[in-house]
Amino acid sequence: MKKKLTFLGIETSCDETAASVVQENPDGTAKVLSNVISSQIKEHEKFGGVVPEIAARSHAENIDFIVGKALNDGKKDLKDIDGIAATAGPGLIVCLNVGYNLAKSLAAFSKKPFLSINHLEGHALSPGIENKISFPYLVLLVSGGHSQYLIAKDVNDYKQIGTTIDDAVGEAFDKTAKILGLAYPGGPEIERIAKLGDKYTYDLPEPIINRAGCNLSLAGLKTAVLRKSKEISSSKEKYNLAASFQETINKILLKKTRVAMKEFREETQNISQRPFVIVGGVAANNSIRKNLKDLSKKTNFKPVFPSKEFCGDNAAMIAWAGIQRYNKKLFSKIPDNVKSRWPLDLDAPFLKGPGLKL
Ligand code: KG4
Ligand code: ZN
Repeated sequence: MKKKLTFLGIETSCDETAASVVQENPDGTAKVLSNVISSQIKEHEKFGGVVPEIAARSHAENIDFIVGKALNDGKKDLKDIDGIAATAGPGLIVCLNVGYNLAKSLAAFSKKPFLSINHLEGHALSPGIENKISFPYLVLLVSGGHSQYLIAKDVNDYKQIGTTIDDAVGEAFDKTAKILGLAYPGGPEIERIAKLGDKYTYDLPEPIINRAGCNLSLAGLKTAVLRKSKEISSSKEKYNLAASFQETINKILLKKTRVAMKEFREETQNISQRPFVIVGGVAANNSIRKNLKDLSKKTNFKPVFPSKEFCGDNAAMIAWAGIQRYNKKLFSKIPDNVKSRWPLDLDAPFLKGPGLKL
């Protein structure tokens, strides 16, 4: 019988210092033996966003403890680990380096295999920790830095069919929250006060809704919220604006997901199971979950969400991606470098910036 691999994962691409020990199960899913996350929210809250230097210093202060705790909680010693996986990008270089360099040193010291992981692949593969899921599947990755529709054909083989041309969905939540005077990160705050408001109050724009395939644009929506925010004074109006913003995001995602599903069907004919996985921090939003679940039912897709602990940034998804890459013999060479930009689909057009034609 094949040995069950156990990997240590390390993640420091943004504002979470995370380490995790993950063991593969015989049925192709995984057992998360430990999942330690130290969030820096308190340190960045007063700035309304992540400050790279503060984040890097905090990672450096915490990383030894977090990795030690992950091994300890997982009841494993470094000698019991079969491989070490660390996020190599995309992300903030000064932050990535902290976790990545420690992982490289640990791997060299313990003579264990070392795997460089793309953070986006970590998210894209994360539903496989808890669910038996087979390729190909459709992915909606919605986080603070990225918003993409992907066709996951296999480990290391992704086709990007849509992306945002300006703000990411999580970024739109964060910026709207800041406009409304709410704390960082904005997603959970908007979701909380949206429950108190009437989502039909404001008619907000849905940029490029009928154009550009399943690409997204959210900057115009944020500007509209900014304009409306100057006209409101009561708490009730604020709740209504938050609810209307969240409703507009839902409408955009519903429309664009329909387009992505159509493309997926065209690309992958003759498959009976059509999994649709929704990952990244924004996948924790209950209204988005419900809407995309309902849509999947209507369109004959099988919606798959990771548990909320695996939606936001975590190292279990990095260890898990490491195990899957190891099984496919996709090893990294040491030395390797961290990268701020690292698309999953290297052939996808870069859609941000001037000169964009839709
Ligand atoms: O995946 P993640 O933890 O980090 C990145 O890779 O960016 O995603 C963080 C993003 C933030 O923008 C945060 O506001 C958003 O996910 N988020 C949410 C919710 N929880 C987190 N957005 C909407 N509703 C939520 N409940
Ligand atoms: Zn992320």
